[in-house]
Amino acid sequence: MTVHIGAQKGDIAETVLMPGDPYRAKWAAETFLTDVRLVNEVRGMLGFTGTWNGHPVTIQGSGMGMPSLSIYANELIRDYGAKTLIRIGSCGGMQPHVGIRDVIIAMTASTLSTPSRGIFKELNFAPCADWSLLRAAVAAAEEKGTKTHVGGIYSSDVFYDERPDLNEQMTRHGILGVEMEAAELYNLAARHSVRALAVLTVSDHLQTGEALPSEDRERSFGDMVEIALTAAFT
Ligand code: HPA
Repeated sequence: MTVHIGAQKGDIAETVLMPGDPYRAKWAAETFLTDVRLVNEVRGMLGFTGTWNGHPVTIQGSGMGMPSLSIYANELIRDYGAKTLIRIGSCGGMQPHVGIRDVIIAMTASTLSTPSRGIFKELNFAPCADWSLLRAAVAAAEEKGTKTHVGGIYSSDVFYDERPDLNEQMTRHGILGVEMEAAELYNLAARHSVRALAVLTVSDHLQTGEALPSEDRERSFGDMVEIALTAAFT
């Protein structure tokens, strides 16, 4: 047990999928894994372990934002031995060619700041995905025929943004989408020599104002989960 995760040591698999929403962790575990058991419910941040094609997998909610994700990812890596961590979540589209329901596989994640800022100080460290996971996820997405974009994303500290000029600069520099967690996951993976990737579904669009209707969410998010699971075990 750790401060924020009630699981016993052997309860957490080396491969962990991390949605922001604990109820999405429940849905993904019940939909895609077999022999599923609840391994964490501290603070309602649900975590489940089961198997996918015979491989042990944990799906643990991360909460919203980098400070929350950092707590869970640190404990999963340092205390439970997680070796492959894949964020599965939603993001806002930031380019005209990126549509609702499309999948974004994040090669890099730009930020204003992360919980790791205290270490990096004046250095602008470039958080990037694990290459083997990235390559396998792209191959899995192509195989499924999912409309997918691969490139940089923006990990913002705020959902209700009072600095639209920053979004404009991100769009101008080719950033595909905005979410709130991936950059710190990539920092932690680099620090602890483990693998990380973010596979995201575009749930809304900053320029068009479009948003995914709730009845479409499960099917669209399902592609992302399958891409992440396939990538983890390729
Ligand atoms: N901003 C930040 N995070 C998000 C968004 C957004 O527009 N959509 C989904 N996650």
